[in-house]
Amino acid sequence: MNAVDSVTHAENIKLSEDEKSVIILDQTQLPNRQVHLTLSNPKGMWDAIKLLQIRGAPAIGIFAAYSMYVLAQQYQDLPYEEFVKQFHEQKEYLNSSRPTAVNLSWALNRVENLVLSEKEKPVSEIVKDLGAEAKKIHKEDIEMCTKISEYGLTLIHDGDGILTHCNAGPLATSRYGTATGPIFLGRERGMNFHVFSDETRPLLQGARLTSYELQNAGVDVTLICDNMASIVMKQGWVNAVFVGCDRVAANGDFANKIGTSGVAILAKHYGIPFYTLGPSSTIDFNTPTGDDIKIELRDPDEIKTMWYKEPMALKEVKCYNPSFDVTDHSLVTGIVTERGIVYPPFKENLKKLFNK
Ligand code: MRU
Repeated sequence: MNAVDSVTHAENIKLSEDEKSVIILDQTQLPNRQVHLTLSNPKGMWDAIKLLQIRGAPAIGIFAAYSMYVLAQQYQDLPYEEFVKQFHEQKEYLNSSRPTAVNLSWALNRVENLVLSEKEKPVSEIVKDLGAEAKKIHKEDIEMCTKISEYGLTLIHDGDGILTHCNAGPLATSRYGTATGPIFLGRERGMNFHVFSDETRPLLQGARLTSYELQNAGVDVTLICDNMASIVMKQGWVNAVFVGCDRVAANGDFANKIGTSGVAILAKHYGIPFYTLGPSSTIDFNTPTGDDIKIELRDPDEIKTMWYKEPMALKEVKCYNPSFDVTDHSLVTGIVTERGIVYPPFKENLKKLFNK
């Protein structure tokens, strides 16, 4: 089994055999248990995204597309106008689960546009096409992640130290992943990297997911607390920082897991190249700058109680728990996409690469 298959053999998102439900690997149970959830109702799907049972920008987009297909089969006997209305309501409902990663609305708009463009077809045919479109979104993500991994691999050398934050591997996408894709690909080709995985407070995606993925793939990975990135960089152990992205604005600012912008500032201080890696489904040309990105605020208990036997702060203590931050484009060395690596000036070069 190659490096990435050793991680993804469990498959993070798939349709059930009869295509009446979506099956996901519940990421909240990792690394201790591999539990699959079979989902076929809107509330269960909404919760799966909100509670991070399925998470990572591309993965929630793929999951949402499959979900809309599964749900649409349940009301395909409705006349077209009513079908469209019901479809739109459920799309808006799923879209309300998490606001920051653009892949969710991107995938939902894509499947809705298909429904709107096939007015002349019987609804049952539209639903079949919806299934095909959801599978296409999934397949395209696999292809994009593979290309991103190839481009990313040109930026690093055998023996390099790479620091990553949060989880942008196979679990967050499909197959290789984005930020850690080059590492998996390099590993398959016999290369060795030393990866520092930030634990990523408060939800520990780096500890629970990234170090799990890399360790299982036979990569030399060291888990560090978020506040240790500076000392590791200062020792000269990090040759490049690779992180994922949840929404890249037209000027190259990007939202990613809370703490990413701090890592970028540190990388600048120590003169370490800092890259974000993401598919075109994460680039949002309708969002001019990072200031226009809505940042999700989450439950304070994720900080105060979630991982502890007893609360680690007084109940009445105020808590601020933004799930993402925005890294300014001035801190970014390059943006690695499936079409190539974009360098500054990002606004012009992103437009050029994507013909906008
Ligand atoms: O809150 P999460 O765990 O969904 O946040 C995920 C991230 O910030 C990832 O780095 C990002 O989605 C890129 S995944 C390829």
